[in-house]
Amino acid sequence: MTKESIKQNPQRIFSGIQPTGNLHLGNYLGAIKNWVSLQSDIPSIFSIVDLHAITVPQDPAKLRSSIHEVTAAIIASGVDVKNSILFNQSSVKEHTELAWIFNCVCRIGWLNRMTQFKEKAGKNREKATVGLYNYPVLMAADILLYKASHVPVGDDQKQHIELARDIASAFNNMFKNEKQEDFFSLPEPLILGTATRVMSLRDGTKKMSKSDDSDASRINLTDTRDQISNKIKKAKTDSNPLPETLDELKTRPEALNLINIYAALSSQKTSSILEQFSGKGFSYFKPQLIELAVDTLSPISSEMRNLLKDTKEIDKILKIGQEKAKNIAEPILKDVKNLVGFIN
Ligand code: AMP
Ligand code: TRP
Repeated sequence: MTKESIKQNPQRIFSGIQPTGNLHLGNYLGAIKNWVSLQSDIPSIFSIVDLHAITVPQDPAKLRSSIHEVTAAIIASGVDVKNSILFNQSSVKEHTELAWIFNCVCRIGWLNRMTQFKEKAGKNREKATVGLYNYPVLMAADILLYKASHVPVGDDQKQHIELARDIASAFNNMFKNEKQEDFFSLPEPLILGTATRVMSLRDGTKKMSKSDDSDASRINLTDTRDQISNKIKKAKTDSNPLPETLDELKTRPEALNLINIYAALSSQKTSSILEQFSGKGFSYFKPQLIELAVDTLSPISSEMRNLLKDTKEIDKILKIGQEKAKNIAEPILKDVKNLVGFIN
């Protein structure tokens, strides 16, 4: 799916991000940057998914400040809150209501296949919350509550969107109106750009993640110029110059990651960046990557700091988003409840 094909058949975008602190370059390049570029072509709804955040224990005060921080980061990155809808998930109760109905559609076997649960729960599966296991059902509800047609995400969320499609099809088969029409159309994942999976700066085979113990593994959106510079200087590499071909680059995970990051930050193709730097060493490449990363991220982090001085204003923006989101969600949930056979 390309941006051009969406323009020809625009419908509605939904995407979400968890307010769990440490928003990083992966979140920016894999998700938020694409939200910003899509919002002018297709009506968009973006959510700070706080109900998802509590699938692992959260400190309430920290959760509250993360909701503000992530909202500020999204606005500072360029999401236009006048034209797009930005709200926190728990403020629209229809999400949990639809999630329950979907719990009664989704099969245990489908959830058992979800690789992210296996990764996140690790060896301690018996101690994981039911919410963590069940989370993809809530995610399906998030998307289908607005009958979203496209869901821009990073590569790691593809399987969850496939599950949302399975749930939508199963619902369509179970519940028909008099005309025997499908109630939901199937949402498409939109995995755009050259950095759909940004890797850790310490290990090119591991995803850059909010929860990595090493802060040096990621570039946070709140990092200062010096922090960004030091992290890139120290980023793991090998000692060879950058290769000639993409095939060779693909055998060198750390080099591939840094080149992909450069390509995504400059909105260019990986192959053109490789052409530009092939034969050059990292001592030549890294300073240029630092300059590009600082130039892109510093205005975002300074705008974020500015917005965070007035959290009441952020609350107002979320309230407006809540009302707009509810206006779309309420009638859709009402129709779902009618189809299921509830009296409301
Ligand atoms: P999360 O931090 O799990 O709430 O993810 C929010 C969004 O960022 C989702 O669309 C993810 O797919 C995306 N994302 C998270 N980590 C990465 C990464 N390392 N590379 C690319 N996209 C990512
Ligand atoms: N599960 C997503 C993540 O961790 C966040 C999310 C929740 C989401 N609901 C969504 C993304 C709906 C897209 C659409 O990254």
